[in-house]
Amino acid sequence: MNLIQSGQVEAYLHLLKRTLAFALWDDPLLPVESAKYRSASWLKRSFVKILEMVSNLGGFTLAIRAIASETDIDEGKVWRAYPDTMIGLRRLENIQSCVETALAENIPGDLIETGAWRGGACIFMRGILLAHGETGRKVYVADSFAGLPPPDEEKHPADKGDQHHTLDFLAVDLETVKNNFRRYGLLDDQVVFLKGWFEDTLPIAPIDALAVLRLDGDMYGSTMDALTALYPKLSPGGFCIVDDYALEGCRCAVDDFRKDHHITSPLQTIDWTGRFWRKEGASIH
Ligand SMILES: C[S@@+](CC[C@H](N)C(=O)[O-])C[C@H]1O[C@@H](n2cnc3c(N)ncnc32)[C@H](O)[C@@H]1O
Repeated sequence: MNLIQSGQVEAYLHLLKRTLAFALWDDPLLPVESAKYRSASWLKRSFVKILEMVSNLGGFTLAIRAIASETDIDEGKVWRAYPDTMIGLRRLENIQSCVETALAENIPGDLIETGAWRGGACIFMRGILLAHGETGRKVYVADSFAGLPPPDEEKHPADKGDQHHTLDFLAVDLETVKNNFRRYGLLDDQVVFLKGWFEDTLPIAPIDALAVLRLDGDMYGSTMDALTALYPKLSPGGFCIVDDYALEGCRCAVDDFRKDHHITSPLQTIDWTGRFWRKEGASIH
């Protein structure tokens, strides 16, 4: 008996979401590096840098106690040590809603996330396909598996000064991500890894059509490269999900792309940073 027959789809996906988001347990210590991100204050970042230098010299790792509220965790507002995805429960629920709608309405195509980190959102996509007995669609996992690229300021002036590429916390190697899929029993030939910079891998990705395109590359260039290569492959009725609308670079890329391609389908709010829209009409080839 499969999950659909036994009526256990929702129970499995409920548990999978909470496990991936590490929402079932109390938060342990947070890597000290995380204090450099979105914490803005120059003083705090300098202090963390000194602490890092001391810990490197001493050969130990520093950690701080997480001060995240339940809402922060639900909405993926803070970086934490253990989750396999940093996007929080609201954005996981949005993935579930988009994928399940695409399945129910027979929107043709595969699923992709551009920017996978530890793989959690993609693991969840694969879990949704499994729960619904869907064997004909693939989950594409696109990432450098080495963190973000340094900004290409000539090509994308909006990325000038972007510091994401300096953050080791964002670099998770391919074997680790594969192992994460394996731990959930979800590594199989319905999962395809696209390793490398988006500007190289996405234009030649062996994808015919997409039902869900999830963008999580943080920067202007990473967002624009993904939209340019993949939006034409998104089926009418398919979902384009944006993880990083709160980040200026990503927001500008999304706004520029929607304006340039006359996309008027409303941008819907998921949480403080997540947005999505549904592709209307004919493809924009
Ligand atoms: C914020 S993390 C993604 C979080 C992930 N979606 C999750 O569920 O937790 C951003 C990821 O995008 C990748 N990335 C960003 N820009 C990229 C680019 N231009 N090419 C390849 N990978 C990129 C980074 O390596 C990193 O793993």
